[in-house]
Amino acid sequence: MTDFLKLAEDIAREAGDMLLAKRPTMSGEVETKSSPTDVVTILDKASEELIRERVLAARPSDRILGEEGGEEPGESDVRWIVDPIDGTVNFLYGLPDWAVSIAVEVSGQVVAGVVNVPARGEVFTASLGDGAWLGAERLRCNTGVPLAQALVATGFGYSKVRRAVQGEVVAQVLPRVRDIRRGGSCAIDICSLAAGRLDAYYERGVNHWDFAAAGLVATESGARLGGLHGRPVSPYFALCAAPGLFEDLHDLLASLNPERDT
Ligand code: IPD
Ligand code: CA
Ligand code: CA
Ligand code: CA
Repeated sequence: MTDFLKLAEDIAREAGDMLLAKRPTMSGEVETKSSPTDVVTILDKASEELIRERVLAARPSDRILGEEGGEEPGESDVRWIVDPIDGTVNFLYGLPDWAVSIAVEVSGQVVAGVVNVPARGEVFTASLGDGAWLGAERLRCNTGVPLAQALVATGFGYSKVRRAVQGEVVAQVLPRVRDIRRGGSCAIDICSLAAGRLDAYYERGVNHWDFAAAGLVATESGARLGGLHGRPVSPYFALCAAPGLFEDLHDLLASLNPERDT
């Protein structure tokens, strides 16, 4: 596991350095994907290509799932889950909260995760059973926070229909918590929770590459990660908080999202 983490961290740092160096001149080359607000820059693709090349150079038979390049079939039990830039809209506008996220999954279980936030000089890491770390600092999520005093992060997808539903849900959550944050990077939101900078996070319609690495950082910090209606975390719904707050927020969100995963 240490080897996986070391390789993932080295690659996430190299991609982050490349992005920091090229962002000032190259971030403006933009295409759209699923909707006019769903953007991808030339550097999202360059970051993913760099990561794929480095992973395959070191471990040629591993599988890779990446946001921009999809998944290549293969036989290996080891799968790398890559978001080459999480927080592309922040990246495009020169806001600092964007990250390179790399997780390593063995037989379906995430065993190592790195979330590199280059513009803040912060690298979050975790390997299974070995704690969550921000550099050399061991992370513990906040505990014992009642829902009414929780600082809750969330995010919004790129489709208008989904956003309308998310807006209705957040309007119901806002009066019941301390406040809401929308940082623009799922991976950073979840790592911030692990570091005690937020108390909870939820979002409907995220992807494995958004939460795979950060989810391990959060669970290794003592948080619970799951979905709605007692289901595991999935692209349908991601919810994360310390035990206690998790259940209270879960029940509120389940009442506001009554339909089950299909
Ligand atoms: C997005 C970010 C955002 C979340 C969206 C994601 P991207 O990822 O994580 O915070 O609200 O659902 O799609 O597109 O910037 O990699
Ligand atoms: Ca994207
Ligand atoms: Ca993402
Ligand atoms: Ca992305």
